Amino acid sequence: MKNPGRRRAALRASLLASLAALGASAFVAVPARAQGRRGATSGRPLPRSADERRILAVIEDVYRNHRYLSVPEEDGRLLRLLAESIGAKHVVELGTSTGYSGLWLLLALARTGGRLTTFEVDRGRHQMARKNFERAGVLNLAAPVLGDAHAEITRLKEPIDLLFIDADKEGYLDYLLKLGHLVRAGGLIVAHNMASPAPDPRYVEAVTTDPALETVFLNMDEAGVGVTLKKR
Ligand SMILES: C[S@@+](CC[C@H](N)C(=O)[O-])C[C@H]1O[C@@H](n2cnc3c(N)ncnc32)[C@H](O)[C@@H]1O
Repeated sequence: MKNPGRRRAALRASLLASLAALGASAFVAVPARAQGRRGATSGRPLPRSADERRILAVIEDVYRNHRYLSVPEEDGRLLRLLAESIGAKHVVELGTSTGYSGLWLLLALARTGGRLTTFEVDRGRHQMARKNFERAGVLNLAAPVLGDAHAEITRLKEPIDLLFIDADKEGYLDYLLKLGHLVRAGGLIVAHNMASPAPDPRYVEAVTTDPALETVFLNMDEAGVGVTLKKR
């Protein structure tokens, strides 16, 4: 076969056939876009306790019935994974809305023994988030704050393991400048909407040009998430 493109395609087909014959199809990566957002490879989050089942049920209900500008499910799951894998004890969220992303973070914090401080300027959404945390049984792990986050966060003094920025898009740099020093070494700064709506270029520059930080951008075919490690 002289055509290298056809030869590569034939090799790939034969490799896939061999893997399928070995029963290894689950290990063949299929792009999420080709599978739909709830793809076969990511499945559903499985509760490992009654407490987790209760939180996941409220997450599902908020997603279906009470969401307001909430992150997509994939990004919620990513937040949970990040918080749980670094053993986060204190997560700060800017932009609570009705509590959807907060619930994913609280799912992690219920396991790590941590807590969430989350800021929302809109009274109705702040109250709905409180209710959602309560019915998920995790209000005791959350401190929902009503007010302008730019002013309210200046009261924060304790170290932060994970900072999640998802409020006013033009405010991201101010949030980073005001809270970056509280993020512990080895902690994460996660910023939503790094693809859409267009992010503030000053924020992107700040997290990609500082040698003390390492940033990757994920899920950029959707709203986009920036994940920044504060290096040790
Ligand atoms: C994109 S939504 C947050 C979605 C939420 N993180 C979720 O996934 O469920 C942004 C929220 O930030 C709030 N917000 C905007 N500016 C704010 C500010 N200066 N202080 C506090 N909250 C603010 C808005 O009222 C809105 O509810």
